[in-house]
Amino acid sequence: MAPKTDKVTAPAIRARKQSGPKIATLTCYDATMARLLDEGGADILLVGDSLGMVVQGLPNTLPVTVDEICYHGRAVARAATRAQLVGDMPFMSFQVSSEKALENAGRLLKEGGFEAVKLEGGENVAETVHRIVGAGIPVMGHVGLTPQSVHAMGGFRVLGKSEDTAVRVLADAKALEQAGAYCVVLEGMPADLGRRITESLDIPTIGIGAGPHCDGQVLVCYDFLGMYRDIKPKFVKRFAELGDAVVDATARYVAEVQSGAFPDAAHSFGMARPHTQGEPTGEKPVVERAPAGYGPADDENS
Ligand code: KIV
Repeated sequence: MAPKTDKVTAPAIRARKQSGPKIATLTCYDATMARLLDEGGADILLVGDSLGMVVQGLPNTLPVTVDEICYHGRAVARAATRAQLVGDMPFMSFQVSSEKALENAGRLLKEGGFEAVKLEGGENVAETVHRIVGAGIPVMGHVGLTPQSVHAMGGFRVLGKSEDTAVRVLADAKALEQAGAYCVVLEGMPADLGRRITESLDIPTIGIGAGPHCDGQVLVCYDFLGMYRDIKPKFVKRFAELGDAVVDATARYVAEVQSGAFPDAAHSFGMARPHTQGEPTGEKPVVERAPAGYGPADDENS
């Protein structure tokens, strides 16, 4: 495995505000995807509570638990070598008290393999952020459209279109900076407000539906790959159409299974030739070191 020489850390992310380049963040929920996104150069892999919607098929993120974030975190942590790993604090894992929040943030690091946590909210969670940061856990803030407040907002709505709400969102972001957050997600707000907040803070902003002026961007991995096709918010750009590719591959697989074209000889095993006692069987693995969890490798002597 390549040495982790350029491992992305919280101080390195913070420094990107001045030094650049912009911070490219993606959500991620499993080891195979983590290996690919890490190889592609993503700076931060976020196990977001969006997994409730894109992995579990729920209508919102509210039922996601700390155990589930940790489960997916361990999978991502086994595969990613460079990107910083951030775990989302699910609904009700940090709102009850700052003691409970600190305990759950600690669980994300101890049980999920994360290197930082993210939580939604502004002035209302500043004290909690301060306590978590005080325990040596980097905190990524999240203001603007906060999906855990979907019922209070009356849906997933862009926030900060009026000057009143814009000032509130700016105050939220500043409160998080003062509480010690190392960066903050700006979600679902006019591009002008994204720029205003970015220019007002010394910590980096990471936008999602907050325009081009932020210090970085984040997208849900199934959105940017064109795999989550239930809804397509305006801010989502599909960098690939893997959803179409999967449907097409499945249709071809079904046709070949039904016609008997798959599996052919190239994808079938042969018998070993007879051998005398003591002679090596000739069976050897094609893959010298399969990733953890993979079964016996293929047999070359087919
Ligand atoms: O849960 C999530 O994936 C998120 C990002 C979209 C910022 O909060």
